[in-house]
Amino acid sequence: MITDGQIVVRRIGELRGTIDVPGAKNSILKLMAATILADGTYELSNVPAIVDVTIMSELLAAIGVTSEAAGPGRLRMINRGELVPVAPYEQVERIRASINVLGPLLARCGRVSLSMPGGDDFGARPIDLHIAGLEAMGATFKFGHGELEAFADRLHGADISFGFPSVGATENLVTAAVYADGVTTIDNAAREPEVVDLCHLLVAMGAEIDGVGTSRLVVTGQPPGSLHAANHHTVPDRIQAATYLAALGVAGGELTVRHARPEHMQNLLARMTEMGMRFETVPDGLRAVAEGRLRSIDVQTLPYPGIATDYKPLMITMLSVAEGVGIVTENLYPGRFRYVEELIRLGGDVRTNGHHAVVRGVPRLSGAPVKAHDIRAGAAMVVAGLAAEGETVISGVEHIDRGYDDLVGRLRGVGADIVRG
Ligand code: EPZ
Repeated sequence: MITDGQIVVRRIGELRGTIDVPGAKNSILKLMAATILADGTYELSNVPAIVDVTIMSELLAAIGVTSEAAGPGRLRMINRGELVPVAPYEQVERIRASINVLGPLLARCGRVSLSMPGGDDFGARPIDLHIAGLEAMGATFKFGHGELEAFADRLHGADISFGFPSVGATENLVTAAVYADGVTTIDNAAREPEVVDLCHLLVAMGAEIDGVGTSRLVVTGQPPGSLHAANHHTVPDRIQAATYLAALGVAGGELTVRHARPEHMQNLLARMTEMGMRFETVPDGLRAVAEGRLRSIDVQTLPYPGIATDYKPLMITMLSVAEGVGIVTENLYPGRFRYVEELIRLGGDVRTNGHHAVVRGVPRLSGAPVKAHDIRAGAAMVVAGLAAEGETVISGVEHIDRGYDDLVGRLRGVGADIVRG
């Protein structure tokens, strides 16, 4: 019997067919936050149906930007210019991306009061780079009682060089710099496709940004209030696409992953090719084939264009049933290995030490009850279930709902034996 809110997966063999990949969680949340910057009505399309979008909508509604469904995958956002620059604890503690309202609110309102952001439970996730960058642009900060307050009559341009190419800090500084007095240069900026997507929306709104897609972004500030609303199609989700490829890798078969953008996944596809999968670019997507047992490889996570930390739980799951031994090194979040204990419950042979994992492939996992600890770890458990004899029962499914748009339905559509209670 399945309990409400659980996913049950059984190994059934090969997957065949077509899966559509929706827009990226890590893009849409930032696009939504950017609507703070200019009054007007925005139409965002290719919006994934995920819980984090609902939470971001609630946060923005509290700030004064409302949103409504405008058809399948479409979100209409309305900014009437009556903004309250306060991000309440109830929403902020639920998603990490709430930190993305900091830059736009500071640029637009000159002050912000924000609870410290929450999000996934995989270790410390500091915001010092966000703070230092905004301070260099003239902002001042006060901290106390879990709240952060920021002030700046008008930010000014600055030369900022990150010690690490943080996605969130790059996004916050770019959205703050669009109204700064003068030019802001960000060196060692993050280059993730989702950062690029945000820059494209900002440019469509009237911002001047050079170097989009490179690690040096140059933002020429515009007069405050001069940007305007715009429409935007969200970039497809490379992590969801990778999830379906990992599922194929362990189950075997052939999938067309429609809307996947191979150019955003080049390193991943190269590594999966070394593991024995085959890929072909097709119009508006990617065709993938997996035959026989995967081969082990060593992997390390890196900022884009390297192998994303978000791919890692999927890679470890693939390695857990591959031929040979693979060493996985996590360079972004040392604590991001919690799901390994769940994989061991399924018969995986994985040992972790600091930010390394040694994965000895076994021919087959064996189904058991497991927990989803965060979004990607949850998806990895679903993938593991496709490679496990018997029944894998996954609880903590609310984590998966935060970032996956109908993972169960999409996998069932290509032949997986998967149901949700
Ligand atoms: C984004 O988080 C994503 N989240 C994460 O995806 C993703 O894992 C991460 O980028 C890396 O790709 C969203 O987009 C909402 P970072 P973000 O700032 O922006 C350190 C998912 O499952 N750092 O690039 O928070 C930090 O500790 C989520 O979809 C500082 O030291 O990531 C980490 O080691 C989970 N100081 C590294 O940089 C700072 O001020 C990368 O963080 C900021 C970050």
